[in-house]
Amino acid sequence: MSAPKNIVALTGAGISAESGVATFRDADGVWAKYDYREVATPEGFAANPALVHEFYNARRRALPSVNPNAAHMALADLEKGLTERGGRLTLVTQNVDDLHERGGATNILHMHGELLKAECASCASVIDCRGDLSIESVCGVCNRTGGMRPHVVWFGEMPRFMEEAADAIMGAELFVSIGTSGSVYPAAGFVAEARALGVPAMELNLEPSENAHLFSDARYGPATEVVPQWVNEILTMK
Ligand code: APR
Repeated sequence: MSAPKNIVALTGAGISAESGVATFRDADGVWAKYDYREVATPEGFAANPALVHEFYNARRRALPSVNPNAAHMALADLEKGLTERGGRLTLVTQNVDDLHERGGATNILHMHGELLKAECASCASVIDCRGDLSIESVCGVCNRTGGMRPHVVWFGEMPRFMEEAADAIMGAELFVSIGTSGSVYPAAGFVAEARALGVPAMELNLEPSENAHLFSDARYGPATEVVPQWVNEILTMK
């Protein structure tokens, strides 16, 4: 295979695990401690907004104390290297943390939203949010109270940037999936989209994901080892 210039990378919670951010479905994961129906659905928010705000406030408060790891930095290096080659890295992440940004990547599509943003149900504005949210929060744009929610895509809601992700896969020479269990759609369907387009697909994960059989290549191990190794191979290819 000649050196790819256009790569789409899908990331999941596994890339942030070694930074100390809990994954969702591992034994000690978030969904072992919380019922996703109560804290990550529109129905749960309508039933108990205070519980949902506290769930996201706790995760938002913890964010400054965790740092990007070698896998996040390696993807930023990949983005720079591909750009120098006249290509591009499109980083589609399911993660709502800001570790890809803090690791130096820039072309990032947060398909499940962002913990450090809030949205207003009254005026639909999306604003930066680094502090706690509550039912008393006032929208900084329309000044109304009671309509603020985390800018996070909940189960049953439409993920963001789907068209941009599909376009990027269409133009890619390689699709790589990193640190995701492949259990939540539409992200878990990206590999099938790539294959249908004849785009080679690779999995970099701690262990085989639910759709491991769909990948033409795979490397298994901790992201901080496997991702930098793979990026180095890509960037030293002629
Ligand atoms: N290095 C690489 N992979 C890892 C590591 C690690 N250190 N630790 C865990 N993993 C892998 C696990 O083996 C698993 O396959 O990361 C994956 C994490 O899977 P999930 O916990 O299901 O997280 P994710 O795939 O991102 O979940 C997708 O589900 O709940 C929703 O919105 C939430 O975005 C999330 C979506």
